[in-house]
Amino acid sequence: MWSSRTLFILAAVGSAVGLGNIWRFPYITGENGGGAFVVVYLLCIAAVGIPVMMAEVLLGRQGRQSPINTMRSLAQQSEAWRGWSLIGWMGALGGFLILSYYSVVAGWALYYIYLLASGTFVGTEAAAAGAAFDAFLANPGLLVGFHTLFMVITVFIVGAGVVAGLERAIRWFMPLLFVLLGVLLVYGATSGGFAAGFNFMFSWNWEKLTADGVLEALGHAFFTLSVGMGAIMAYGSYMPNKASIPSAVVMIGVLDTLVAIAAGLAIFAIVFANGLEPGQGPGLLFVTVPIAFGNMGLGVLFGTLFFILVTFAAITSAISIIEPAMAFAVEEFKARRWHVALVLGLVCWILGLGTVFSFNAWADVHVVGEMTFFDFFDFVTQKVMLPLGGLLIAVFAAWVLPKAVVKAQLRLPGGRPVEVLWEVLIKVAAPVGVLAVFVYTLYHFFFQ
Ligand code: TRP
Repeated sequence: MWSSRTLFILAAVGSAVGLGNIWRFPYITGENGGGAFVVVYLLCIAAVGIPVMMAEVLLGRQGRQSPINTMRSLAQQSEAWRGWSLIGWMGALGGFLILSYYSVVAGWALYYIYLLASGTFVGTEAAAAGAAFDAFLANPGLLVGFHTLFMVITVFIVGAGVVAGLERAIRWFMPLLFVLLGVLLVYGATSGGFAAGFNFMFSWNWEKLTADGVLEALGHAFFTLSVGMGAIMAYGSYMPNKASIPSAVVMIGVLDTLVAIAAGLAIFAIVFANGLEPGQGPGLLFVTVPIAFGNMGLGVLFGTLFFILVTFAAITSAISIIEPAMAFAVEEFKARRWHVALVLGLVCWILGLGTVFSFNAWADVHVVGEMTFFDFFDFVTQKVMLPLGGLLIAVFAAWVLPKAVVKAQLRLPGGRPVEVLWEVLIKVAAPVGVLAVFVYTLYHFFFQ
């Protein structure tokens, strides 16, 4: 068990804040035209993500086992269908798929520590920063190398079981990350792109929102909170009983959202100050941020530190992505942490090669439709598995688990009105919301 409520919060923040906030949120916001997309995203966090996260944590704390066995025993206790353990299995599988490409992108951040530290970007212009990233993507050897390095670090930390020590460091790293995002924001404000970036993120432009964009916002809300595949359920199983789930979850959700918004504002300020394309895709972070650090005082120092922090945030997230599978293997087969970590890491590493090559050698290899390996892994996890997992978790907590159990676990503050709000969100908003978005997107996919 976590030594305290604080350690649970640190671990959950470490899990939530990661590449999803700093790398993914800005680039998908850019691809979806900003504005309305951001509104839908915020709505999904508040009305679906946070309630489902509360449900997931409470299931974990009630079950106190790995997600697979937690779901199995909770279904048994509730005299429900044992197949509910499917939520756990899907989560463990999703972990492999997510970590495979997560590790590749975290490898990009690792490489950028080196690039920034070696002064590559001092005085750089937008075109040169873009060319540096393109050259990197075109080099499968380098990509594999840094993907491998990140996976080795993750396997080592998980295998050695030094996770808790790492989570404690979040206390120092998270404020530092905010400081550096602040540095980027100040740079953005002085370079003249801040107002345009702000307008891009918060303008009222509903005509730009597509059905696919809505599903993307929903899927990303789950992704950024680490919800929908048992990761937070696994962490919840370590949470002390006296800690309050609602206040912890709201705090995590707010902090996670603040990091994403700050990263978006900083990046779009640089985008518009340099006439870059907001919808250019996954390279956005790596093309914009080096321009800023390359052209400010102490930029080498700040820039190096920034990518160290991004990598750190990615490590604490990666640990949680693999935790459901890890916890199950250790619990079920009494296997050694080292062995499990090595096997899981190897599988993710191999799967990750598909993502590596989708940016170069296999750029024209399409798995389904127009999707490369990376697009496909991203699609299946983000747009199918996480929303589906979240939907099932909501339904289980709202309709299957005995009401008394939920009540005792949640201990909602605020009396009747808050209780009603919870019921409406978990019974209606979350399941109906996810279903509606699924149906709507499928309809558009097939009939438009
Ligand atoms: N939330 C993390 C991020 O934003 C990624 C992550 C960690 C995750 N654990 C997860 C995503 C579990 C889905 C499920 O970078």
